[in-house]
Formats: sequence, C-alpha cells, structure tokens
Amino acid sequence: MAREFTSVGVVGLGTMGAGIVEVFARNGIDVVAVEISANALERGRTTLTGSTDRAVAKGKLAEADRDALLARVDWQVGLDALHSVDLVIEAVPEHLDLKQRIFAELDRVCKPEAILATNTSSLSVTEISVATTRPNQVIGIHFFNPAPVMKLVEVVRTVVTSADVVADVEALCERLGKVDVTISDRAGFIANALLFGYLNHAVSMFESRYATREDIDAAMKLGCGLPMGPLALMDLIGLDTAYEILDTMYRRGGRDRRHAPVPLIKQMVTAGLLGRKSGRGFYTYERPGSPVVVPDEHTPVSTGAALADGARAIAKVGIVGSGTMATGIIEVFAKAGYEVISVTRGAEKSAKVCEAVKTSLNKGVVRGKLSETDRDAALGRVTWSATLDHLADVDLVVEAVVEELSVKKALFASLDEICKPGVVLATTTSSLPVIDVAMATQRPADVIGLHFFNPAPIMPLVEIVQTIRTSAETSATARAVCAALGKTGVVCGDRSGFIVNALLFPYLNDAVKMLEASYSTADDIDYAMKLGCGYPMGPFELLDVVGLDVSLAIQRELYLELREPGFAPAPLLEHLVTAGYLGRKSGRGFRDHTKR
Ligand SMILES: NC(=O)c1ccc[n+]([C@@H]2O[C@H](COP(=O)([O-])OP(=O)(O)OC[C@H]3O[C@@H](n4cnc5c(N)ncnc54)[C@H](O)[C@@H]3O)[C@@H](O)[C@H]2O)c1
Repeated sequence: MAREFTSVGVVGLGTMGAGIVEVFARNGIDVVAVEISANALERGRTTLTGSTDRAVAKGKLAEADRDALLARVDWQVGLDALHSVDLVIEAVPEHLDLKQRIFAELDRVCKPEAILATNTSSLSVTEISVATTRPNQVIGIHFFNPAPVMKLVEVVRTVVTSADVVADVEALCERLGKVDVTISDRAGFIANALLFGYLNHAVSMFESRYATREDIDAAMKLGCGLPMGPLALMDLIGLDTAYEILDTMYRRGGRDRRHAPVPLIKQMVTAGLLGRKSGRGFYTYERPGSPVVVPDEHTPVSTGAALADGARAIAKVGIVGSGTMATGIIEVFAKAGYEVISVTRGAEKSAKVCEAVKTSLNKGVVRGKLSETDRDAALGRVTWSATLDHLADVDLVVEAVVEELSVKKALFASLDEICKPGVVLATTTSSLPVIDVAMATQRPADVIGLHFFNPAPIMPLVEIVQTIRTSAETSATARAVCAALGKTGVVCGDRSGFIVNALLFPYLNDAVKMLEASYSTADDIDYAMKLGCGYPMGPFELLDVVGLDVSLAIQRELYLELREPGFAPAPLLEHLVTAGYLGRKSGRGFRDHTKR
C-alpha cells in the first residue's frame, strides 16, 4: 500500500514553485506554500491566481473548482509552518549551500516520517540529502516548466534513498496525472543533460551574431517542430537559473566545454535581464511575468516592402536535380507562380520527376488543399528538360543534385558558363561548405545556400546561407523569394550544420552517449524529451527516422569542422551503422521496426 499524502509543503514560489503548488492543489492535496518574505509570498500567490484565472477564462477549470483549489493553499512565511506535512518539495534558487541550509532546517521542523524532496535541476541530490539526519527519506522530484502543463517528472533516487520512498513518490506522481521516470543522481538527469548543451550552443550562435534571435528560434521551431525556440526557452527558464544549471553541469558533468556558460548569459544576469520573470531577457515582454513578447530595438522589420528592398526581380527559375528534394522544390516554385525549368540528366529521369510532381499535386487536390485549376496551372508552368543550356535566361537556379562536392562544383562551373549575368545561383546542400561551391564560379557574390527541409512542399523553413562572398543583393533576393514562396527564411553563416543541424545533431549524439552509458533506457529518454520538453519525437525515434548513417555523417562533419571534443560521434552510433542498423529504412536501428 502506497503512503497517503494529504498535505504537502512547497518551499520557494518562483517560476517552478508556484506551478508545483497548483499541481498539488488541483489534485485535491492541501498545500502549505512557503516563501522567504511577505512580498515574495504575494508574488507567488499572484502567479497562482493568474494561472488559475486563465484556466477559468479558457474554460479548462470551473469557477467553483478554482475556488476550491485556492482554498487548499495555506500561504506562509518561514519553514516552521511545515511541521505536519507528509512531503516537502523545495524549489528555491539553484545554490547548493542554500538548499543544504534549507534541508537541515526542514529536517529539524518536519515530522520524522516526512519525505523531503528537492526540485533541483542539476545539483547533487545526494549532497543535499546529507545535510539532514534522514538521507534515506530525501529524493529528487524534478518537475518541468510550466509544472501544471508538462507531463514528465524525473524521480531522482540516490544510493541511500529507501525503496519505499521511491515507490511512494512514484505512486504520488501517478495520482498527479504525471508520467515519471526514475533515475539515479547524475548532473542534469535525463532531460537537462540533453537540453542545456543545446541551449548554451544556441546562445553562443546569438552572441557571435551567427544568426538573429528570431531566426535561431524560428529555425528550431519550424525545422524540428519544437514548441519554442531555444532563446525563448532560456527566457522561460530564467537566465539566472539557466546559468546556475549550466555552471553546475559543467563542474559535475566532466567539465564538458559545451556546458561552460556562454559569457553573455552571466552579463545578462548581472544586468538584471533574467527573462520573462523580469520582463526582459533575449526578448522584451509586456511586463514582468508576462508571456507576451513586445517589439524592441532588435525586432526586425518584416513587411513585404522591407524584404524586397535591394532584391532582384525573379520570374523564371531553373531547378537542377531529380531526387526527392528537387521534386519537392519544383512543386513549391510552380505552385507559387514562378515559371520553372526542371533540368535532369536524361528524358527518362525527367519523366519520373514529372510523374512524382503530378502525383504530389494530385494528393493536394484529393485532400482539398488545391483546386484542379491551380494544379493544372502549376504543371503548366513547368518545362521539363535534360540539358543545362536551357538555363541560359533564368533569373535563379536552385541546385539539388547529389551531396558530393565534386559533382556540385562541376555543375556550378557549367552554370557559370551558361547563365546570364546577375542570376542568383543557389545550392540546397545540407552539409557542404557553400563557399566551396561558390568558388567554382567566377561570380561567388551571386552564390548562396537555400537549404529546404524535407518534404519541401510541407516544411515551412528555408535556411538562407550567406558565404563571406555573398552580396547583399543576392541575400535580399533569396529572402524575398522565400517570402514569396510562403516560407520562413532564416539567414545564417556558412558553417557546418547551419542552424538546425548544428543544434539538433549534437543533442541526438548526446542521447546515444547517455544510452551507451546505461544511465537510462531509449524509451525513458524518448519519454523525457517528449513529455518534459514537448518535443514531437524522442531522440531515438528521430534517429531511426532520419537514418543512423545520415546522422553519423552530419555529426562527423560537425566534429571535423568545429573540433569540439563533445561533438565526437558516439561509438554506439558508429557500431550500429557498421552493423547495418540504419533505422527505419533498414528495418532496424535503435528499435526493431520489422515487428511493428
Ligand atoms: N526554471 C525552470 O525552468 C526550472 C525547471 C525545473 C526545475 N527548476 C529548479 O527549481 C528550483 C527553483 O528554480 P526557479 O526557476 O523556480 O527559481 P526562481 O528564482 O524563479 O524562484 C525561487 C524562489 O525561491 C524563493 N526563496 C529563496 N530563498 C528562500 C528561502 N530561504 N525560503 C523560501 N523561499 C526562498 C525566492 O524568493 C523565489 O521566489 C531550482 O532548483 C531550479 O533548478 C527550475
């Protein structure tokens, strides 16, 4: 029989604590909510009433239930009020000495059988537990932000936490409607260990002006389907908290440089730019605590006129290639009203591409997304050719041939001879340096990367890759074309992985390393990222879809270009590829797909 929890205490009512109070009170459990001062207590109370009022306004909570929920909370200053609760969850700032002091005090105040839990994200639960005389009753209960919304709870068991306590807390999580994963005491547990290297890397991209905040965030939202971009997430977490988590993970997690907080984070914390809670972080908010972003001096002008400023007029587009990407891109341009010349290496290939475009357009008609007239008009705009000479008078060429530098360079040298002056020459490469392709021509200023995502007709993102030779005019043209295609174009520099792959693949590689170290299972790691961070797929699901060979190749490129030791491909990934376990396409990757 699991232990009954009739009343719990929550210490610290900031970003996390106020949400944790709501989780318990919503589930019929009495809460003693404790803060350090009357002011802080009032702030916590305002957060809770704000959140429950919003739930009522959205029709997710009845007024009577809201009132009952609020009546379950007893607001108190000081820990003495916690003498009779069954469980305490501490959610004060991420400092070991502070947490140890609070735990020593809780040990003195709370009844002997009470469980003492910390919501720490990165500190050692073991080190916190030894500040008490009951380390076997100390456990980590790590909620995710926002606590009332995110389903995951990481239950952290130390080497001395008693099995009963673990079982009781697991049962409690279930009662709260949460999904728990139980793990041992390691810096960052599952989710933060995989998340924070990525967040820090995103901040370094912003700090080095590799891309704008809007473009970094849009890239990860639209390219990976994440609920929010990394910089917006840093603002939600709180930059002070994020700094402490990174710093602790760096020190506890083997001094991986990727966790050494990017200097900008410390500067922002010192300047009081803490994120949403202070009203300003990477973005500016309506007021402290508000989720509503308001324009500030960094907000880009995104009107059509501004986008077209300096852009060349594009009417006729050549698309070279006959694979999946070329086929999708032909459809995208033809539907957007451009005159398209598709060039392949032979009539047979052209016929196949033509058939594939027709099939895809027909699907659009069947699904009611495209009228028959629009389908016919789109097809009517495409000319099918097997000779590059037909590209003599196009305004833009998009190359989507095989991912081999020698092939692309030879093609660009030919385009340089054939195309008229002033044409924008774009490559869709996802891993080769655009500058290498550009230098195969006599006009590198006109060459740019247009990295579409697969399937091109559906994915809303295009990475616009500028080399150090790309002209402002070429870049403006690329941006205007993306806007005309209805895509979000994000501008970045010519570095391995651009934005999305550079941020995504090291995270996937880290997940493989975590599995290899037997810290957790593939299922639990997938759960943690989906339910704790709102990712549409867990890392192992995604690796099996993308292909382990493709993932390994991208990770190798990143490692070779950046020489970052933490980017070294996980040995397990290399072994699986060698063994022919490539993911869904070969029937087996991290999971066996032949049985499903
Ligand atoms: N922010 C997140 O996204 C997130 C997610 C999961 C876990 N966590 C963890 O939760 C904990 C709290 O983080 P946060 O982001 O909510 O911090 P926060 O700064 O938003 O809130 C901390 C609160 O603790 C209060 N406090 C400080 N000293 C106290 C004391 N002696 N007694 C009572 N209250 C005291 C402060 O007044 C403040 O309201 C940290 O351990 C953090 O790592 C944070």
